[in-house]
Amino acid sequence: MKVHAGRFLPPIEEIALEKSPVPPQIEFCSVTKMYGTVAAVKELSLSVSRGEFLTILGPSGSGKTTALMLLAGFAAPSEGDILIAGKSVAAVPSYRRDQGIVFQSYALFPHLTVRRNLEFPLEMRGMKAAGRAAKVDRMLERVHLSELGGRMPSQLSGGQQQRVALARALIADPPILLLDEPLGALDRNLREQMQGEIKSLHKEFGKTTICVTHDQEEALTLSDRIVVMRDGRIEQIDTPEALYDRPATSFVATFLGEANILENPGFKIETDVAQPSGTVVMIRPECICIAAQTAPKGAQAGQRQSVTGMVEDMIYAGPLRKYHVRVESSVLIVREHVPSGQQIFEPGDEVQLDWLRSDIRLVPA
Ligand SMILES: Nc1ncnc2c1ncn2[C@@H]1O[C@H](COP(=O)(O)OP(=O)(O)OP(=O)(O)O)[C@@H](O)[C@H]1O
Ligand SMILES: [Mg+2]
Repeated sequence: MKVHAGRFLPPIEEIALEKSPVPPQIEFCSVTKMYGTVAAVKELSLSVSRGEFLTILGPSGSGKTTALMLLAGFAAPSEGDILIAGKSVAAVPSYRRDQGIVFQSYALFPHLTVRRNLEFPLEMRGMKAAGRAAKVDRMLERVHLSELGGRMPSQLSGGQQQRVALARALIADPPILLLDEPLGALDRNLREQMQGEIKSLHKEFGKTTICVTHDQEEALTLSDRIVVMRDGRIEQIDTPEALYDRPATSFVATFLGEANILENPGFKIETDVAQPSGTVVMIRPECICIAAQTAPKGAQAGQRQSVTGMVEDMIYAGPLRKYHVRVESSVLIVREHVPSGQQIFEPGDEVQLDWLRSDIRLVPA
């Protein structure tokens, strides 16, 4: 870079790049998919950058798999277009789209050994046997399955099958990786372990990844951005932090994490700004503090609202306690970590709840 008259000037190549920016790796341009009269996906517009990890999150039937199938070329849009690296793929068959895919069920070839499963994508691309063997060895080692290459899929545990499915999707080095509920069949511990594995594979291989899930924790853990879908449409796209902290709708607020949505709470909720019509008050359970009624007012008293209520229910959840507390006509969910020695409240206890006014969100209903 040159310094000119006290300013840094970018080199010529960078100026050229600025003028013709790299197109997004994947673009959905107002894509609709009809199945008879059902619109599985409606006017979906979405861009995914090279190397990004994007998660599609949404309830069952919201169109997540359909969106992925359209991108993979297993279904064609009824309207709209899909671009990869700036070019329409309308006329490109699925086997030429160069994408690694892990389907909703692992779908390993049951009659082929682990090795042969991994060799298959390479064989399809015309790679010679010696090259294939070396690549399969490296990949088996990478996913910690070197010992199991000779086994059939039915002789593997769920987690091992999932590793093979991921390895098979990655082995031919496709620029795009599509994962549909890749960890859906695994128990919680294994899921968490495999989430770590997916994260580290993404870091290492840098593939543009679209991952479908209905597990919010998984979405928050893995993604650069999350798309929340509802009834075939995008409800919100944002970073995990922004979605959680500033949900655009009450649907997003309740779908991503737990939320107290207070429509007619029966008591005045103090807000820093006037509440626009058509919005509801939302506060996250972990933003509410619970204390004995006689507890002295804590710090920041001027910025907090305090109400009294009665515990209706206490749910034990390992290091967390979840309380349901009645305040006038509302029942608020309160969640807190309980260090040993801290007071635990029981149903029937009168308590004081308080929260920072700045933790109140006003979201469209
Ligand atoms: N081949 C098909 N024929 C008819 N309707 C379909 C077909 N595939 C999907 N649908 C419908 O389209 C809608 C979206 O389905 P999709 O499989 O995309 O949902 P999803 O978000 O992946 O759900 P899940 O979380 O249960 O996997 C549903 O109403 C579904 O019944
Ligand atoms: Mg699905």
